Amino acid sequence: MRKSKSVGFLNLEILELTKRVKSKRGCEAEYFDIPERKFGIKTYQTFEEAYRGWNRQKIAHKAKVAPKTGKIVVIKKSKSESWRFGYETEKAIPVKETSVLWKKESDKLLQKLVKIKFSGDFHTANCGILRNKLVYLDFGDCCEM
Ligand SMILES: Nc1ncnc2c1ncn2[C@@H]1O[C@H](COP(=O)(O)OP(=O)(O)O)[C@@H](O)[C@H]1O
Ligand SMILES: [Mg+2]
Repeated sequence: MRKSKSVGFLNLEILELTKRVKSKRGCEAEYFDIPERKFGIKTYQTFEEAYRGWNRQKIAHKAKVAPKTGKIVVIKKSKSESWRFGYETEKAIPVKETSVLWKKESDKLLQKLVKIKFSGDFHTANCGILRNKLVYLDFGDCCEM
């Protein structure tokens, strides 16, 4: 992992991965869980998408339904030509439909997301477990209602 100096007043980090890191992809975002970092990194193709997602997740975190966000990150995968734009996010654990927590908390979580108008793409793959609570993870443009 090659880390450049952060661009101080912007609180932005530029990160170049020197070895392969596992990532998870949806249709808009790619999520990197870099083991040596406390936070994961959610990335998009454009800065605008990333900035919209970052702002939505901050609203959702205040409403206690999403992981905390950190700083904006610009990242390049090893061997990739292009840079991706994203932000730091607390790491959640995957949840299954058969899980007790899903059965217990998913209806309530959906109601809370409806209130803040981010319920557009609600399903298990977009949710996770954080500190023993069900949270929502996907703040791409599809989540807006
Ligand atoms: N904060 C997170 N902690 C752990 N895994 C995450 C987190 N955010 C996203 N993921 C994983 O990455 C996948 C893709 O992210 P997501 O935001 O859902 O992208 P998309 O909008 O393309 O569906 C998710 O389905 C989930 O498995
Ligand atoms: Mg998703």
